[in-house]
Amino acid sequence: MPRGLFITLEGLDGSGKTTQIKRLAAWMQKRGMNPLVTRQPGGTPTGDRIRALILDSGSAAIAPMTEMALMFADRAQAIAEIIEPALAAGRIVLCDRFTDSTEAYQGGGREIGSEIVLALHRLVCGDLEPDLTLLLLPSLESSLERARRRNDRQAAHDGKDENRFEQEQEAFYRRVWQKYHEIAAREPQRVVIIEGNLTIDEMHEQIIEAVSERLVASESAIER
Ligand code: TYD
Repeated sequence: MPRGLFITLEGLDGSGKTTQIKRLAAWMQKRGMNPLVTRQPGGTPTGDRIRALILDSGSAAIAPMTEMALMFADRAQAIAEIIEPALAAGRIVLCDRFTDSTEAYQGGGREIGSEIVLALHRLVCGDLEPDLTLLLLPSLESSLERARRRNDRQAAHDGKDENRFEQEQEAFYRRVWQKYHEIAAREPQRVVIIEGNLTIDEMHEQIIEAVSERLVASESAIER
């Protein structure tokens, strides 16, 4: 069985990843592919509990190292429970955030630095690297605005509290933003940046272009 393809979506809160991952999955399904869609943190029963612990704004006192370790605990479970089995079965895996988020948010935002995040990645995730990473980077200002609106809407709607990261200051998001750029510059083969204030349709077009290229390059690896 040829191995599947591991595609991750990255970006700041409010960059439109969730909409885009849904559209990408629908595009693939129309073409007879059967992608597995998941997200981090979360995606497994254990991961959902870790997610609640990390994102609840009542947990504001979590130390940066704890936060980073929890992200990797979640990731280890997701790899074992869903990502590896799906890739081994030849499926495409679409993952909303992966280690680049930890490098950007904990490494950059929380100022832990890249080195320790990458060292943990090697220990916990072994040689699992995305085949393609789509990095959505609309302007910082519009991302922040969207994240705020979404959060207000969600709190009003279901009282769910996933607030903690949205409450961060702009300086934090600037560091996250900066780190994402650094990652993209370091790994241009893997990371495709989709920048600017594009419409949902324009962003989707660019994503399809990048994904199509990668699919052609690894044609034989995809379950049809
Ligand atoms: P989520 O509601 O999934 O946000 P989004 O839709 O923007 O992806 O919340 C995930 C939050 O967790 C987001 O603010 C980024 C943060 N995060 C980290 O700080 N480190 C990580 O390793 C991951 C996976 C997420």
